[in-house]
Amino acid sequence: MVGLAAILSVSLFIFWKMPPHSAEPPTDPSDERYYFADSKYQGIRSKFVARDSAKQKVSIEYPITGIKTIDTLARKTINQADEEFTQAVKAGSSISEPMTETISYQVPYNSADHLSLIVSIKQNIHGAHPSSLRYFWTFDKKSGKPVTLRDLVGGSDANAAKVLTLARNSAKKTLTEAQKPDTTVDDIDETALQNFVVGNATTISWPFGQGMIMASSQGEIELSVSVNELVTELQNPLAKSLFTVPEPPKPVPPAPVTPVPRTDASCPGGRCVAITFDDGPGVHTTRLLNMLDQRGAKATFFVLGSKVDAQAGVLRRMQDSGHQIGNHTWNHPSLTQLSPEGIRQEISNTNDAIQRATGHTPKIVRPPYGAANQTVNAELGRLGMSSILWSVDTRDWADSNSSIVCNRAVANARPGAIILLHDIHTTSVDAVSCILDALSRQGYGFVTVDSLLGNTVPGQVYYGR
Ligand code: NI
Repeated sequence: MVGLAAILSVSLFIFWKMPPHSAEPPTDPSDERYYFADSKYQGIRSKFVARDSAKQKVSIEYPITGIKTIDTLARKTINQADEEFTQAVKAGSSISEPMTETISYQVPYNSADHLSLIVSIKQNIHGAHPSSLRYFWTFDKKSGKPVTLRDLVGGSDANAAKVLTLARNSAKKTLTEAQKPDTTVDDIDETALQNFVVGNATTISWPFGQGMIMASSQGEIELSVSVNELVTELQNPLAKSLFTVPEPPKPVPPAPVTPVPRTDASCPGGRCVAITFDDGPGVHTTRLLNMLDQRGAKATFFVLGSKVDAQAGVLRRMQDSGHQIGNHTWNHPSLTQLSPEGIRQEISNTNDAIQRATGHTPKIVRPPYGAANQTVNAELGRLGMSSILWSVDTRDWADSNSSIVCNRAVANARPGAIILLHDIHTTSVDAVSCILDALSRQGYGFVTVDSLLGNTVPGQVYYGR
């Protein structure tokens, strides 16, 4: 945004200062002047139009690429906005200050075959808020037609849906930074994303103006998605000609029906890790259980008490398949912020729910955020619970990219490690088969926390074996 504003003000400056060389005879209306000049973009000229009177101050820069359909579309878009502005000027009553309009353009990308164009329209009509609209396209120079998002992802519904999800995440991030995290992004749909620009070699951008995908009060909002997050979706010639798309990840060899060395209960001193999943059960947990059970891998689930009653069947399946269930509190508070009574309630209510679902009461807790202190550990000890932290943090909540998550788990695994994941993220669950395959090849077995640590002592904190 800042960059755009800077470019805008520079072009304004040049415009007002530059004497209109190659000036044509004045046109109607009588206060309008125009001239042509090379733009700063190779091979693109601009037509500058100015109107300056007591009622209005207007500066318009039209792009002239020499490709008729592109120039026509840009001109029509600009003229439509300008006509509305002119109507407003005519309707304006006696006014002390002129209404202003500044229209400019940017060409963020220009190759032999394609060109991205952004038209920015800023109007300040007396009595109303200043408005800032933007129209943008990436054109195929040969056909002169805009390339759509559908074209970019090879026409696939699933690929387009992936882009939509990432673009909504980008919007959420922008809104969070603007301290408006509660604003919905559900209104952003695929149609809104059909036109895009090539922001740079690895970024698809949607530089929306004010009110174009969200309420005007949200201001301008620029969405962007990294092509690195769309490696498999962009394996087509068009996408590769516009962006630097990395090679697709080598397919993980189909899971051989791995003879799993240890499906037994214990791993004393052996080459084992305990994979743990927090914050569930969630909608991906059953898929995860299928993956684990197919390979005979055991895991530990630190569940939220508030989710247990509704998913008692999933908990029973965990138990029946030999996984371990631990306590992750009822509502995921930071236990260090609670009174001893509050800590006891979070833990006991969750233990009760797990007991109702499975007939067993857990003996291990994972404090949310890993937050604990003496008070917390003392209360847990009184409740007969041990605190289980981790030695390998996949940071899967921060990087919703399953290859990053898998690499992090595999690179940091050591015999006796406790690995932290969250089964509420689809990308984390996606990473699990990669983690199991890679670590199996290194001879690891996958066991529960109890099998890894043996008998744990209430009130103690464990990071691994
Ligand atoms: Ni958690």
